[in-house]
Amino acid sequence: MSLTWSAKDHKSYTNPPAVTGLKRPRNDTGNKVTVVLGAQWGDEGKGKVVDLLATEADLVCRCQGGNNAGHTVVVDGKEYDFHLLPSGIINSKSISLIGNGVVIHLPGLFEEGDKNEKKGLKGWDKRLIVSDRAHLVFDFHQVVDGLQETQRQAQEGKNIGTTKKGIGPTYSSKASRTGLRVCDLLGDFKDFSARFKNLVQQYQSMYPSLTVDVEDQLKKLKEYGERLRPMVRDGVYYMYEALHGPPKKILVEGANAALLDIDFGTYPFVTSSNCTVGGACTGLGIPPVNIGDVFGVSKAYTTRVGIGAFPTEQLNAVGELLQTRGHEVGVTTGRKRRCGWLDLVILKYAHMINGFTAIALTKLDILDVLDEIKVGVAYKLNGKRIPHFPANMEVLHKVEVEYETFPGWKTDTSAARKWNDLPAKAQNYIRFIENHIGVPIKWVGVGKSRECMIQMF
Ligand code: GDP
Ligand code: IMO
Ligand code: MG
Repeated sequence: MSLTWSAKDHKSYTNPPAVTGLKRPRNDTGNKVTVVLGAQWGDEGKGKVVDLLATEADLVCRCQGGNNAGHTVVVDGKEYDFHLLPSGIINSKSISLIGNGVVIHLPGLFEEGDKNEKKGLKGWDKRLIVSDRAHLVFDFHQVVDGLQETQRQAQEGKNIGTTKKGIGPTYSSKASRTGLRVCDLLGDFKDFSARFKNLVQQYQSMYPSLTVDVEDQLKKLKEYGERLRPMVRDGVYYMYEALHGPPKKILVEGANAALLDIDFGTYPFVTSSNCTVGGACTGLGIPPVNIGDVFGVSKAYTTRVGIGAFPTEQLNAVGELLQTRGHEVGVTTGRKRRCGWLDLVILKYAHMINGFTAIALTKLDILDVLDEIKVGVAYKLNGKRIPHFPANMEVLHKVEVEYETFPGWKTDTSAARKWNDLPAKAQNYIRFIENHIGVPIKWVGVGKSRECMIQMF
């Protein structure tokens, strides 16, 4: 049986297959999906891990977030950055899917596709499927994102440091049931236009300075909608067929990360979607029984973009070294990332929620020059260890981190391709992390490109 799909498998949205034969034998749970999730505050190298796995995948799906994500993939010396497109789009043999849980800014999507096409990524639009249930990010959502940041700054003296991609306002529209979805745009345009106008009015009543050229927006949206139409499917049915058809390798590419999750992250300094494993089910419409491996991605140290507590942050020469050596600059916003030691408390917390089956530890090579390396192993409050990760940000700001110190290996690891190529001190560092979290480390990253990944088992 073939493990790959061809573009011929695409069926037109205007002529969808009849929903028949949904019954399957009870013991046939179907194909399993492999989920790749950020285990820290984002930018752990998810794009690189997905790219590695996507070379064998038939279907690569995004399930949440929007173009706040910035995933880097380096292949044959060429660097690609993906924001809304699943990183698997690079593999001409696999299909990419944007699920219902994703919020889509259509100008952003096409700009990203066109930009990558100029870099040599051919036929991306023939390999992309978009769920009809996905919500749309409008230009005014992005403007409102900026206005809300200004308001936070004025009212509280600080903002969140969002990407200003309209993520919060769009998920707010979704939750308040005034949002508009792909299926609305492709349905009766008169009805869509009326609802669009109502939504604009609602935001204008909240933000009187907001100006929107409604007719111009609607004209552009109609054009984008027609360009999108051939890619749109009923996402639930599409996934059902993928899970219950012939054997397929299906990947889910998480965006953002556990500590940015709307429920489990460092609220309110988080994004607006579930970036933990539940988001894979709700964002694609798939049952939990179809979740297979869940791979957590973590750097060998920690970074964070934007505001919020960061217990192991190093506002010193170590932090600066990690920032410069690691080229720690946001892919989406170009902001410098804050840097610090690896924090095993947050990794254990991310594991409690996600149940990782294995971990990819990236950017080990960045630590190559350090004399000593510290790892946060516990948090203390008033001198006493606490067993949980604090929900309250005031408490998190107060915790004292207990560190374990390791001697640096002071050796270039970037050419290492197998476990035995790594210096003993680096092996010791990796084994300590693995034992402390209680999850096997399956890959160790020692460079940007696809081949710079040591596979452990
Ligand atoms: P994502 O958002 O999780 O996909 O990660 P980003 O792409 O935002 O940031 C990760 C950065 O680290 C990118 O510039 C990657 O090319 C780079 N990177 C990933 N893994 C490694 C690694 O093992 N070593 C080095 N030096 N760079 C890496
Ligand atoms: P990837 O997928 C790092 C952060 C923003 C901000 C907060 C809220 O590349 O790992 P938002 O625009 O989502 O409302 O911003 O979340 N943030 C990320 N930080 N990597 C990301 O994605 C992020 N996505 C959101 O910096 O602090
Ligand atoms: Mg990123």
